[in-house]
Amino acid sequence: METVPATMQAVCLQAIPQGMPQLADFQLQQLPVPVPAAGQVLVRLHWLSLDPFLRAQLGGRYVSPCPPLGAVVPGYAVGTVVADASGRFVAGQWVTGLLGWAQYAVAEARALQPVDPALGPPSTAVGVLGIPGLTAWAGVRRILEPEAGQTIVISTAAGAVGSIAGQLCKAAGARVVGLSSTAEKCALVTAAFGFDACVNYRAPEFADALRAACPQGIDGYFDNVGGAVLETVLSQLALRARVVLCGLSDQYNRSERPPGPNLGPVIGARARLEGLVVYDHLDALERCRQELAGLIARGQLHYREHIHHGLENAAAGFIGLLRGENTGKALVAVEHAA
Ligand SMILES: NC(=O)c1ccc[n+]([C@@H]2O[C@H](COP(=O)([O-])OP(=O)(O)OC[C@H]3O[C@@H](n4cnc5c(N)ncnc54)[C@H](OP(=O)(O)O)[C@@H]3O)[C@@H](O)[C@H]2O)c1
Repeated sequence: METVPATMQAVCLQAIPQGMPQLADFQLQQLPVPVPAAGQVLVRLHWLSLDPFLRAQLGGRYVSPCPPLGAVVPGYAVGTVVADASGRFVAGQWVTGLLGWAQYAVAEARALQPVDPALGPPSTAVGVLGIPGLTAWAGVRRILEPEAGQTIVISTAAGAVGSIAGQLCKAAGARVVGLSSTAEKCALVTAAFGFDACVNYRAPEFADALRAACPQGIDGYFDNVGGAVLETVLSQLALRARVVLCGLSDQYNRSERPPGPNLGPVIGARARLEGLVVYDHLDALERCRQELAGLIARGQLHYREHIHHGLENAAAGFIGLLRGENTGKALVAVEHAA
């Protein structure tokens, strides 16, 4: 068995964030490495996933409750098995699960999924070949169903879900228009992810720029933000448009819910709005993973990783994600002493 130190770095919840989280809400601590009981597995973390849902969870607005103060911050991660008291895994095997912001974690064996490193680098198990990839795939394949020649708009287009969703629509023959917050991110969306256009939703002339990019109206919209951006897109829907309601990035850091969008144009367009919860689509994870890994291998799907190094930079990376400073999947490379 590999040598395990007595203590490890872990990031604990110091305060419940109010508005935009602050570095002082998180505290890097030295904790004992946990010991697995029967049925449990000790995992050495290599990659920690930074996800917007954590902000909702810390605000008490998520399916899982906010962790108590002082607890290790929750998060999906990828790591290797160090010790297995369950008989289900072998030492060194790559696994993924809800392991938390720490160098080591103990988890119930049944709560861990094996990662196949032949499909892609292990970090992709929490990115393009994990929940973000499945979210994009389910929204596009099972709700948007884009057709050749249609115009599809995707928000958070430079992010983990949006960048994959747009490329899947493009592969189906649609014209794909991304939305993002800066000129640099918009340039990346067209150059690296192959979208036909990308519009800056923070620019004062956003509505006009979107109309110019979608002159025939919008046949499908993959919404990751809600709020004013959703309202602008809804007012430009084409007849029988489909809208995937997937995320609410615009309101995760607000204490008050902003006034809701006007849904009148949805009725006028005979559009269909459909909510997306990725966990309803877990039956398709293996199929989705094989399909996306195949597209990557053929050079037909591209993904980006925005890597922060060391748990001491996890909180800054998470705050950066909420500020939109990431492009692609936000990750922490969990570092260990040599
Ligand atoms: N329904 C589900 O089951 C499910 C599953 C997974 C993820 N999601 C949702 O999908 C969305 C994207 O998740 P992700 O993991 O791919 O994250 P991501 O897009 O990689 O990163 C979050 C992005 O949100 C955008 N953002 C931040 N603050 C914003 C604001 N005030 N207004 C508008 N946009 C803002 C930023 O992009 P810009 O700079 O481009 O604005 C930022 O880069 C999130 O809303 C997440 O909650 C839903």
